[in-house]
Amino acid sequence: MIDFHSHILPGMDDGSHSAEESADMLRELYRQGVDLVALTPHFYAYENSPHHFLARRGRAFARLAPVLGEDMPRIRLGAEVYYFRDISHMEGLESLCLEGSDVLLLEMPFNTWTEGEIREVEELCRSGRFTVMMAHIERYWKDQKRSVWRRLREAGAVFQCNASFFKPGLHQGRAIRMLRQGYVQIIGTDCHNMEGRRPNMDVAVAALQKRLGPREAEHFFRRAYDFWED
Ligand SMILES: [Fe+2]
Repeated sequence: MIDFHSHILPGMDDGSHSAEESADMLRELYRQGVDLVALTPHFYAYENSPHHFLARRGRAFARLAPVLGEDMPRIRLGAEVYYFRDISHMEGLESLCLEGSDVLLLEMPFNTWTEGEIREVEELCRSGRFTVMMAHIERYWKDQKRSVWRRLREAGAVFQCNASFFKPGLHQGRAIRMLRQGYVQIIGTDCHNMEGRRPNMDVAVAALQKRLGPREAEHFFRRAYDFWED
């Protein structure tokens, strides 16, 4: 399995605080069956230029590298890029894609998006420069009209949701419905630490195996590899 969304790099954002915690997170993901993981610290354009962000990310990776081991998934560096106006014109946006790919993990504002914002994301999708992967869409689902999701899907956006959405209880039925309708294509953990936001791919695996059956669940997770390829 692949985890496309995580905050494992030590000291980079509100995720892991130390190389040791990062190593524990990576071991736990591996134990849950994750063999590839994208390390996607937050990128905020009002805090960093891409150049500065990449330098910081390089330093965080240098802290992590000595503790990497065989009992961990393979990793690739990326970013969770927070949307801002005219994002498509920012120089160096490509450098924030998942390394070796054109996948841009995009975090949207937590409100009802304006027509201008929706159009800009559509343009990003249609530009041919990126595969736009929309981060944790379950957080935005209720605040947008259904037509917005249809438009973004037609434009080629890829929808990522967090594994916690599949927890048994209130939202699991909706999570499964969205997956069946194609509005959940990728599941990531968005893990931040080994406490409240720990690696939890096992939650999604259990839900999919139970609700879809082992074969369909396996097919679903296998499709994620298409987005990882160079
Ligand atoms: Fe995140």
